[in-house]
Amino acid sequence: MTGIVYARETALTVDDYIAVLADSALGPTRPLGDRERIERMLAGANFIVTAREDGVCIGLARCMTDFSWACYCAELAVRSSHQGRGIGTEIIRTCTTLLGDEVAFNLFSTPWSASYYESLGPKLGFKQPHAAFYIPRTRGV
Ligand SMILES: CC(C)(COP(=O)(O)OP(=O)(O)OC[C@H]1O[C@@H](n2cnc3c(N)ncnc32)[C@H](O)[C@@H]1OP(=O)(O)O)[C@@H](O)C(=O)NCCC(=O)NCCS
Repeated sequence: MTGIVYARETALTVDDYIAVLADSALGPTRPLGDRERIERMLAGANFIVTAREDGVCIGLARCMTDFSWACYCAELAVRSSHQGRGIGTEIIRTCTTLLGDEVAFNLFSTPWSASYYESLGPKLGFKQPHAAFYIPRTRGV
């Protein structure tokens, strides 16, 4: 896919993050109206990979990792106008390539994206855990 640059970014702006998330189905599930919280979400994420077309951020994965064992992807989102063109797949591939073969790439799927990750199983190696557990946040969206 020519013209699209996939790269790790260390200074993604709040505006870019909000613009991409707001233009995806993940928008209502994130506190986009609370810029200070988004700032903290970006400052605390130590591994962010974006897709940019002509400099415009069109997709991103915001992750936390130790670069040695595990990576947790908190959001994968592609602007609605650019979905279905392989960009999400390429963002994940860029993440796993940069992380290397010692690091597992983990995420929780939204209900409407589970079939996406299932379909990527053979291509990227996604597996479904036997069981996953989490304690939900109780404040904010
Ligand atoms: C999910 C998402 C990141 C996928 O990114 P994308 O760039 O649209 O996906 P790709 O183009 O790489 O898709 C690759 C394949 O998955 C399919 N696919 C895309 N979204 C899908 C979905 N929600 N369900 C099932 N299959 C899907 C595509 O049709 C494509 O199939 P093909 O290779 O046979 O043509 C993107 O659609 C998105 O931002 N969705 C809203 C936010 C979201 O739900 N994020 C996931 C949170 S866990």
